Amino acid sequence: MTDIEQLQKFIDESQNIVFFGGAGVSTASGIPDFRSPNGLYAQNYGNRKPEYILSSTCWKNERELFYKFYFDKILMNGQKIEPNIIHKKLAELEAIGKLKAIITQNIDTLHQDAGSKNVYQVHGTTLTNHCIRQGCNKEYSIRDLFERKNEDGIPVCDCGSVIKPDVTLYEEQLPSDAWENSVKALKNADMLIIAGTSLVVYPAASLLNYFRGDKLVILNLQETEADSMADLVIHKDMKDVFEKIIVR
Ligand code: APR
Repeated sequence: MTDIEQLQKFIDESQNIVFFGGAGVSTASGIPDFRSPNGLYAQNYGNRKPEYILSSTCWKNERELFYKFYFDKILMNGQKIEPNIIHKKLAELEAIGKLKAIITQNIDTLHQDAGSKNVYQVHGTTLTNHCIRQGCNKEYSIRDLFERKNEDGIPVCDCGSVIKPDVTLYEEQLPSDAWENSVKALKNADMLIIAGTSLVVYPAASLLNYFRGDKLVILNLQETEADSMADLVIHKDMKDVFEKIIVR
């Protein structure tokens, strides 16, 4: 049996699948990942490190640099990014009741755009943004963010305060609702597919310890630290693999 036939067999046998994904899920849509050789962290941004720019410290102390990077590299300057076959197949698996949850470290909206409903974004989301002033906290869309930039490129609320994306920056707490929903889904799952993630960022990577089922699949170009625990490991391009999955 080939590795893809084994994956298909696991999926056919399972009724309670959870998917745990990372940046490798969105690379086929044109969004670079972080730690691959051509990933975001391999690039310098005006000789500043992206890992620093995406931190709470940078957002607090160097807002012009943060928002320039955010609009350019995270929102891709408003370029329309489409869900790929992976997002679409996962939405189909949810629609027939097999896939119960997507836990993603990604902050893009491609799973939602593909029609998935139970998407838990443990590193927050670009989908929404909020004014930081206590008592205001007004919500804004991605489009609003572009339209509300001041002369320094910083998006400003009607009340005059700064609008902050709902993404989890380095040094910040993960959203508790996404975390709790992820733990609950993992405890009930009979199959866990981990894909497109280097599994090097904690606490997100520790979520897989809540999985109790008997079908753990790792689908990733590079090796991960969880490979030895898996029932099936596929080191291939996940786009090619998902193209062969039959939703039935
Ligand atoms: N098919 C399979 N695997 C892929 C593909 C692909 N088409 N493209 C990339 N990958 C793999 C890479 O080999 C790599 O191991 O996906 C993994 C992506 O790892 P990272 O770039 O580290 O991304 P991720 O694991 O999501 O990072 C976690 O780090 O910076 C933080 O908050 C950020 O959520 C992010 C977190």
